[in-house]
Amino acid sequence: MRKIDIHTHILPEALPDLKARYGYGGFITLAKSGPRKAKMLKDDGTFFREVEDNCWNARRRVEQMDETGVAVQVLSTVPVMFSYWAKAKDAGDLSRLLNDDIARTVREKPDRFIGLGSVPLQDASLAIKELRRCVEELGLAGVQIGTNVDGRNLDDPGLFAFFEAASQLGAAVFVHPWDVLGRDRMKKYWLPWLVGMPAELSLAISSMIFAGVFERLPKLRVAFAHGGGSFGATLGRIEHGFKARPDLCAVDNKKNPRAYLRRFYVDSLVHDPAMLKYLIELFGEDRVALGSDYPFPLGESKPGALIDSMKLGKKTRERLLEGTAREWLGIKREAAHAL
Ligand code: CO
Repeated sequence: MRKIDIHTHILPEALPDLKARYGYGGFITLAKSGPRKAKMLKDDGTFFREVEDNCWNARRRVEQMDETGVAVQVLSTVPVMFSYWAKAKDAGDLSRLLNDDIARTVREKPDRFIGLGSVPLQDASLAIKELRRCVEELGLAGVQIGTNVDGRNLDDPGLFAFFEAASQLGAAVFVHPWDVLGRDRMKKYWLPWLVGMPAELSLAISSMIFAGVFERLPKLRVAFAHGGGSFGATLGRIEHGFKARPDLCAVDNKKNPRAYLRRFYVDSLVHDPAMLKYLIELFGEDRVALGSDYPFPLGESKPGALIDSMKLGKKTRERLLEGTAREWLGIKREAAHAL
């Protein structure tokens, strides 16, 4: 059985001095901190995270994929690079740098990597332009976007044209939490990652459902990271709220939120067999795809270990490890076997 891992992050080996390039700060720089290590720093010198060479070195990644039995990684940038706060033209320039790098990695190993680009979503028309370039010129399968765009939720009317273009282009969209809500109250205990991200994902899914994005774009293929965060666990409450206060909830879409469970995908990164079992029941096995968050510590160090640990039938395992990913990415069976 082949494993396609839909949630992995990659960076270029080197980044230009973005502060000098754009004339203002706030961006990430990479500083080599050892033969196989680099520090990600804010350009004011603040430490963000130390990464190993598997964050940029494709050969190292393939070695580790071979060790852990992963056939294909879907590559996306590290979400701190989204830069939705920056000037749109600069975020567009940065997106092109990142996307060209991912496309190069995919071209070198097309049997092991599938790419997702980034887009400057603070300007929908620039984002659509880069989305089109990603799909039509670079051969990427789609794009990764954040759960909010510098504070705008995904129901924002200005973003609809972007989703419409993704649907028309047949581009897969991966929604990853970043710049989470309530950070001012989550300064300790790694809470933005542990509490903020699951809440942020539920906010993104609920925003898209209530705004009718899935209703209006039946062909749009969206996958949410981390099993959709707290959405699944709180769906009962969301549905009850919809029924109890339609005056508040059903203002843009009259359909019950539960009607959209089979309209989007989630990854399997929940670290809990009971939760994964529930998500498979809730969304269906053809809506859940292996995602590991490689190469980061909150991810699954052996991608698919949770799925492997559960007593799942062969068909369900095949769906979770490969089939669902293939459908979300829009890869035909024959093409996937040629990968
Ligand atoms: Co991630």
